Amino acid sequence: MQISYHGHSIVKIKTSDYTIIIDPFITGNKLTDLIVEQEKPDAILLTHGHNDHVGDTVAIAKASDALVIAPNELAVYLGWQGVKTHGMNIGGACTFDFGTVKFTQAFHSSSYTTEENEIIYTGMPAGILLTAEGKTIYHAGDTALFGDMEMIGKRHPIDVAFLPIGDNFTMGPEDAACAVDLLNPQLTIPVHFDTFPPIEQDPEVFKGLVSNHEVKIMQAGESFEC
Ligand code: NI
Ligand code: MN
Repeated sequence: MQISYHGHSIVKIKTSDYTIIIDPFITGNKLTDLIVEQEKPDAILLTHGHNDHVGDTVAIAKASDALVIAPNELAVYLGWQGVKTHGMNIGGACTFDFGTVKFTQAFHSSSYTTEENEIIYTGMPAGILLTAEGKTIYHAGDTALFGDMEMIGKRHPIDVAFLPIGDNFTMGPEDAACAVDLLNPQLTIPVHFDTFPPIEQDPEVFKGLVSNHEVKIMQAGESFEC
């Protein structure tokens, strides 16, 4: 499979037959290389309801007929906007055409803020384990460090982990380095930094804090084969 990073928390996975996008926050994302109209995924996976993760999901899903897989209340809310959804919840797994998705816990919050200044509750925030073509990718979503990351890594040996390092809203570099020790992934890619002033970080600092594990700092638009 091909894995690419597109700024903030956007990750794209291309298997031999399917394209999956996680957290497609494009409009308003100064770091991304993606263009909303060009994205034609088969599935969109969402970690939680915050606008910097839901992003352009509705526009992309309507244009591509992609299935939106999200925590249940978020799936219901997006379903009301006319997109095809599949709601899940923490601890549950489901196998789709492209692979298996399992939602894991994340210590964060989850709501969608409307243009009318309403905050819509969107269920529990989550991390995502995606297993396809024999590889397991863990996208932590937005989260604090938590001890059960060790259990997640033991239950589901992780090939590639995407971990937030921005601090303020999520783990910072030091806690994220501790998360790498607990998760024990083959490869870690830092995400969710530099998009906004409160989450400016030097990813090299994070890389320097991680010992005995490989860290790859990716620029938006960069990809690799896994
Ligand atoms: Ni968030
Ligand atoms: Mn976020």
